[in-house]
Amino acid sequence: MENIIDWQKEDLKYIWHPCSQMKDYEQLPPIVIDYAKGINLYDINNKCYKDVVSSWWCNLLGHCNPKISDALKKQAEKLEHVIFANFSHKGIIELSMRLAKLLPSGLEKFNYSDNGSSAVEMAMKMSFQYFQQTGKTKKIKFMALSEGYHGETIGALSAGACDLYTKIYKPILMDVIHIKAPDCYHCPFNKSRDNCECECFEYAKDSFKRHASESCAILVEPLLQGSAGMRIYPPLYLKKLRELCDEYDVHLIADEIATGFYRTGKMFASNHANISPDIMCLSKGLTGGYMPFALVATTNKIYSAFYDDYIKHKAFMHSHTYSGNPLGAACALAVLDILETGEIQKHLREVTPYFNSLIKESFLNLNNTGEVRSIGLINAIELVYDKNKKIHFDSKLRIGYQIYKKALKKGVLLRPLGDVIYFNPPLIIEKEDMDFVVKVAKECTIEVLKENNFI
Ligand SMILES: Cc1ncc(COP(=O)(O)O)c(C=O)c1O
Repeated sequence: MENIIDWQKEDLKYIWHPCSQMKDYEQLPPIVIDYAKGINLYDINNKCYKDVVSSWWCNLLGHCNPKISDALKKQAEKLEHVIFANFSHKGIIELSMRLAKLLPSGLEKFNYSDNGSSAVEMAMKMSFQYFQQTGKTKKIKFMALSEGYHGETIGALSAGACDLYTKIYKPILMDVIHIKAPDCYHCPFNKSRDNCECECFEYAKDSFKRHASESCAILVEPLLQGSAGMRIYPPLYLKKLRELCDEYDVHLIADEIATGFYRTGKMFASNHANISPDIMCLSKGLTGGYMPFALVATTNKIYSAFYDDYIKHKAFMHSHTYSGNPLGAACALAVLDILETGEIQKHLREVTPYFNSLIKESFLNLNNTGEVRSIGLINAIELVYDKNKKIHFDSKLRIGYQIYKKALKKGVLLRPLGDVIYFNPPLIIEKEDMDFVVKVAKECTIEVLKENNFI
């Protein structure tokens, strides 16, 4: 007799899923995905889920994209991995040559790793060591924005400031100086994101005055604080920050892990402000979401501070086993090939205004919609208890989670951040799918609001 495996049961017997309260799985067991195509994920019963969160924001050009899959297959048959110290391979060299042309000017040295958090750690160590080796040894701290998110390893977590992820670990985290981030929805200066002068930049100025002499770098998610609830702030803030960093000799580390590769409508979020950071971290969309792969890009100025005779011990002694992995490089090259045709950009020009208006039209008239904000294809709807007073729902109600569960039943993978429902779909999404996912999201939102007696 055929031995039929209960995949969900076996999953829960062995697997501790990331970023989950495992007890929730009693009510909602893991959905076991069998195959995928475009924005569709199919479970083992052939039920389709529209992946409008790009599987944690990494799937850039659709699941099982034929061009990327082909490149991966070809590479797997040729060279799967090679130690990256003293050895190299054509793929990673070509990738570096091409990235140097695409990245903001001045970023022309690349150090590779295998996930976003490790890239952030690397960026922090690089900045610290630079100042140690250029005579500014008092610069030993980091600054970052409040509500930021930079990953889960201790350094990256220390730079982050979302209580949900960091609070319990505070006793073991580094002492990072957190600057009050722009909060355009609750702007303390009563301005709006489109017409302000970034009055809130005063907080950054004040912190730099007090802490820049002891700080090597400031880490920021340019324009979009993703995990904080897709909080969007104006490019002017970044421009001002670039100037401030220059004034005080503090490195600007742009964490573009979530924002790179047209997520915000331009190749990099930094492009909106026309700035070049000193260090940039990339991952996620870099391989189209195919392979764990990341990089830290930096300037020749920083690189030069590490370049000397061996016995001076200035080398950057940082490595990861999978640094420069050929499979990752092959996928990244395929992504660049696709982007180079210009088709994606053309598609985005056509569908982005449609998607953004559709979401505004669908949600702005709800009494519990505090704000609808968008950048590129990313759209977020901040649901609140009281729209006029901007009072949030009691988090115990888990309004977002209730909407998430309902949407799954109807075949849409939304995964709200608290009570912020958002869309961050693969860039290839078509209007027809936009109509469907927005309709489902709205229906589910209304049902949940009704069930909780808010409408
Ligand atoms: C802005 C940002 N930085 C860093 C990370 C961490 O990347 P990873 O999950 O690959 O470690 C993330 C992940 O969501 C992110 O959004």
